[in-house]
Amino acid sequence: MPRKVIFDTDPGIDDALALLLLAVSPEIELLGITVTHGNTSQEKCLRNALSLVELAGISHIEVARGAEEPLVKELSVAEETHGDGGLGYASLPPSNKAISKVAAHDFIIEQVEKYPGEVTILAVGPMTNVALALLKRPQLAQKIDSIISMGGAIHYPGNATPQAEYNVFCDPEAFDIVLRSGIDFTLVPLDVTYKCIFTKEHLNRIDRARRDIKEFITESTRFYMEFHVKHQSIEGCAINDPLAAALLLDPNLVKSEDYFVRVDLMAPTSKAKTIADYYGALKEPANAHVAMQVDVERFMDLFIERMNRFQ
Ligand code: BDR
Ligand code: CA
Repeated sequence: MPRKVIFDTDPGIDDALALLLLAVSPEIELLGITVTHGNTSQEKCLRNALSLVELAGISHIEVARGAEEPLVKELSVAEETHGDGGLGYASLPPSNKAISKVAAHDFIIEQVEKYPGEVTILAVGPMTNVALALLKRPQLAQKIDSIISMGGAIHYPGNATPQAEYNVFCDPEAFDIVLRSGIDFTLVPLDVTYKCIFTKEHLNRIDRARRDIKEFITESTRFYMEFHVKHQSIEGCAINDPLAAALLLDPNLVKSEDYFVRVDLMAPTSKAKTIADYYGALKEPANAHVAMQVDVERFMDLFIERMNRFQ
């Protein structure tokens, strides 16, 4: 039976690639897409999500409007990384699709109540929507099957501050709430996603996909690659969110360690850093499966093969 999934996202170039991957994968049943602020404003992320479901051929999937700002800190956006509109140089036709009548956090509550113990939340943006659902309905935590979250950096440097990863940086308090909730939590940090560098050679192997899909991937990643080479001296671009999505299709793409993980909410220089107690010094039970190694080639092969399925 396909796994029931809510996709919580801030599209965003790599979010868009993750959405394409989900759309074409029969292993999952997408219950809906909940959109948050993050890579750009919530409004633009929502507009992108609506256009992306049309591109991906899943316009029947519900798209819900999420939080416009983080729980505590001020809003951040990453238009330098993802472009003014959030999708790099790609431009998609605007969609007429109606937005869900329920807000993202209520959509999460509704779906989890409808399918208790069955829903996985794939969260690849700031965690505000999920935290709002848990704040409104704390007992929901026991009914969520699992969370797979692209976020954090364990040994790897941060990409938002020297120590903080962008999704956690955008709403550290929300991330902390979800991490402490007791939900089965898989963390997919920069340690593994920054090994998954999508290059022009990979792009060339997407040679059987529909023209509009290929063009979208080419134009969005062209911007993303320019950012990576300019700011991080990386030839190609890290496709963070698709790796987290791919774990729904093949959990063995990564090797995980169970750690007690906390978000630093206090110290000014390390605020929003994810700290894993990897020597067990705190004697606390583990609260996260942390992906620490990845089979890069297998992941890239899977991603490329799935993109070529768009006909
Ligand atoms: C994460 O931050 C965003 O810019 C990406 O979409 C990804 O979810 C990587 O740190
Ligand atoms: Ca994202």
